[in-house]
Amino acid sequence: MGLSEEIKRRRTFAIISHPDAGKTTLTEKLLLFGGAIHVAGAVKSNKIKKGATSDFMEIERQRGISVATSVMGFEYKGIKVNILDTPGHEDFAEDTYRTLTAVDSVIIVVDGAKGVEAQTRKLVKVCRMRNTPVMVFINKLDRPCKDPFELLDEIESELGIRVRPLAFPISSGDTFKGVYNIHQQHLSLFTSEDRQTASRTIDIKLDDPSLDEHIAPFTEQLKEDLEFVDGVYDAFDRDAYLRGELAPVFFGSAVNNFGVNDLLDCFINTAPHPRESTTEQRTIDPFETKMSGFVFKIHANMDPNHRDRIAFLKICSGVFERNKAYLHVRSGKNIKFSTPNAFMAEKKSIVDFAYPGDIIGLHDTGNFKIGDTFSEGEKLRYIGIPSFSPELFRYIENADPQKFKQLSKGVDQLMDEGVAQLFTSRLNGRKIIGTVGVLQFEVIQYRLEHEYNAMCRFESISIHKACWIESDNKEQLDDFIKRKYTNMAIDKHGRDVFLADTSYGLAIAQDKFPDIKFHFTSEF
Ligand code: G4P
Repeated sequence: MGLSEEIKRRRTFAIISHPDAGKTTLTEKLLLFGGAIHVAGAVKSNKIKKGATSDFMEIERQRGISVATSVMGFEYKGIKVNILDTPGHEDFAEDTYRTLTAVDSVIIVVDGAKGVEAQTRKLVKVCRMRNTPVMVFINKLDRPCKDPFELLDEIESELGIRVRPLAFPISSGDTFKGVYNIHQQHLSLFTSEDRQTASRTIDIKLDDPSLDEHIAPFTEQLKEDLEFVDGVYDAFDRDAYLRGELAPVFFGSAVNNFGVNDLLDCFINTAPHPRESTTEQRTIDPFETKMSGFVFKIHANMDPNHRDRIAFLKICSGVFERNKAYLHVRSGKNIKFSTPNAFMAEKKSIVDFAYPGDIIGLHDTGNFKIGDTFSEGEKLRYIGIPSFSPELFRYIENADPQKFKQLSKGVDQLMDEGVAQLFTSRLNGRKIIGTVGVLQFEVIQYRLEHEYNAMCRFESISIHKACWIESDNKEQLDDFIKRKYTNMAIDKHGRDVFLADTSYGLAIAQDKFPDIKFHFTSEF
């Protein structure tokens, strides 16, 4: 198969949801369909368990296991599907944001009883920034759910995306009868007794007199609902979906493997293959023959005896070949990889070739950073992997004066891995760590001690938000930096960051300095 065919048959995506909506369960069912796993529960064991929030070592251990499932590839009907796993735990949201930079589309799982929840809202915002095509799976229809139209309205208003149901549920909870596939005009009947065979699909038109036998007393209701769907929602427009403006919606019950088939079939036919990506220098077409790609995630091994890490490279163009030298653009070095890994569900294997859309794991001894580009010689730099304004901030101090070097190296490497963000105060040069979750502070302290033999201590600091600032008005910018000197810091790339104490202080600053732009992500 040539490069072009290989690209066209790839679908690289992530499933996102609020914790507990059913992401893990849906992932598992998709893998079962693809024959990548054979028993239910295989993915489950990698999930960060509930109640483990105070036990970060357990979480890290589970994250360690989840390296193998960071990417789950399988073949389905001739299509190579790559699912990129995203950590369910919200303290690792930044990991998820970065993973979203490496996917070509996204499936959102919404709990039909709860509707749109906080974490989904945040993650979809990131997708919207990148115009990532989105499909929605409304889950848990076997439980009493909100009214489907209410759910559709909620998705539109809360996630800021137009929807188009391609399937429609017939009741929910104890009286759940099934789902009518509007697209294909067939009815999937729900038989709840057996979780693995909960579904029976029959081809039936709405005017078929036998419809009533299957879904009474909801026949009239379904007809009315579908009429309403046709009246209210425009026909499904694939181009609008590809532009990230319109989300097709499916309903089902992941745990019962119900409705998943319809979703997967639509997904492989509708979701995009790898598309163009942006570098600082130019746009890269995946069909270009020269290989290029970027590191979007680095995973450290938790074994203190091996400070090895795995860097996850998304191939964006050309063919990646084992043992061929590629330019690591940031260092200017040519590097060969003798053991690049591909991931197929729980298995890791060495690959000889990888194509755009594929993710490979590269062995790293601490030289790579998130955002690093590899190419066949061209000095490209992939963009679009922003840092997001952290939510929690603390000063980090050296707790063992003998180990200054170890601490500094450890902090640098952990920041390269994207565990947290480091800012340096302009005022006194003190280092400030910013994270999205309180767990990261424990992770940093533990890892510094066990992997770098360094001791640190955190001190509280009252910061509301970090904003990257820029302005065409140099005079105003200089004036701002001078006046706000105590709140100014620089990030790891030397860019100016304003650390606002309070939301009020930020609003005042925005008001007083109208020519300054305050950004909440590092790329603007
Ligand atoms: P997450 O990855 O999004 O956090 O969610 P996960 O798949 O782990 O699902 C969260 C809980 O919801 C699990 O129950 C799972 O079995 C259940 N679930 C998933 N899909 C459905 C569905 O369609 N209907 C119903 N009724 N439940 C569903 P749990 O009790 O936390 O775990 P388990 O004991 O079932 O494994």
